[in-house]
Amino acid sequence: MHHRGLHDVTDQTPSDVTAHGTQRIKIFDTTLRDGEQSPGFTMNAAQKVLFAHALEELGVDVIEAGFPNSSPADFGAVQSIAREIRHASICALARCHPADIDACGSALQGAAAPRIHVFISTSPLHRQHKLNMSEDQVIEHAVMGVTRARSHVDDVEFSAEDALRTEPEFLVRVFDAAIEAGARTLNVPDTVGYTTPSEIRALFEYLRANVKGADGVVFSAHCHNDLGLAVANSLAAIEGGARQVECTINGIGERAGNAAMEELAMALKVRPGYYGADTRLDTTKLLATSRLLSRITGIQVQRNKAIVGLNAFAHESGIHQHGMLKNRGTYEIMRPQDVGWEDSQLVLGRHSGRAAVANRLRALGYVLEEGQLDQVIAEAKALTHTQHVITDTDLQRLVEGEHVGP
Ligand code: KIV
Ligand code: ZN
Repeated sequence: MHHRGLHDVTDQTPSDVTAHGTQRIKIFDTTLRDGEQSPGFTMNAAQKVLFAHALEELGVDVIEAGFPNSSPADFGAVQSIAREIRHASICALARCHPADIDACGSALQGAAAPRIHVFISTSPLHRQHKLNMSEDQVIEHAVMGVTRARSHVDDVEFSAEDALRTEPEFLVRVFDAAIEAGARTLNVPDTVGYTTPSEIRALFEYLRANVKGADGVVFSAHCHNDLGLAVANSLAAIEGGARQVECTINGIGERAGNAAMEELAMALKVRPGYYGADTRLDTTKLLATSRLLSRITGIQVQRNKAIVGLNAFAHESGIHQHGMLKNRGTYEIMRPQDVGWEDSQLVLGRHSGRAAVANRLRALGYVLEEGQLDQVIAEAKALTHTQHVITDTDLQRLVEGEHVGP
């Protein structure tokens, strides 16, 4: 199979600069793990493998395929994905428990670039109420987890769950220990979607300045969307020095979801001068990947979803349509083709103006006298008392004098 733009998965350099001199941000997709474990999004193994192929074609750097020790089905899905996908790292999740980590090691056998992702909670709330562990015990478990994961694979990611509600000084101690034990990627999850852009940016700056060996590892952001800030917080983390972002297609994930990959990738692409960063994604495949996920799960994105929603490149108001007809830049900040749409849509409806209706009639091949044009436009707008949009067929019938409607 031809893999457009697919890359060498063994490339793990922490500071990766693109040909345009921008920072390369690694895209870590967790649709099949954090996304799939949320209500309504369960997938079977065949669906997961199909989706993993789509992610590979899209060009993601890391696919988190599942949590092998959570069920035999999850183990099987991770195993199949590890065997089939050649152009992305395949990651499996484990708590800092030997059985979880060993299950990852077995499920990942045969992967071109296996990664084990171990995590433990670090915040005071979780230490006391979830783990019942002291700070030192948390560090001991983290070190055991990373060390055991390293006995299976070279590429180990460590996550400090609930990092954004953890004392920054303790986070530094945990990360120092994780690096010492052999972790290459340090993930900073905003597990409950609590942080704000300026806070998370400052935390990344603090970690990069204070963690020993920070220059030799990749810092990663993993943001949840409980306050609707997951994408904004991920972008702020990049400003603070994150070089990997964890995200999902359509932003699916626990509760209000994870950061949406399509939004993150396009924010970086549309504002290269601002962020100075880009991804390896073939963004023209974003829409198809979003639609594949909707088909598999049976859950559609909302019409006004950025990038992939039906209204993302649709214009109905007369003033906007008039602007679009003169220069697309008036109301669009990216080309619809760059994310996989055929084109923008000037939807004819109650808010449309004369210019858009006249333009559509011209596109349909009708050259009308002024008077006839006025009459067709008036009749077309009258249709919107009983229907939302005026279709091409409606216009054809109006021009050709046929009766429209019941
Ligand atoms: O949100 C979270 O903290 C997680 C970790 C397992 C990385 O998903
Ligand atoms: Zn998460």
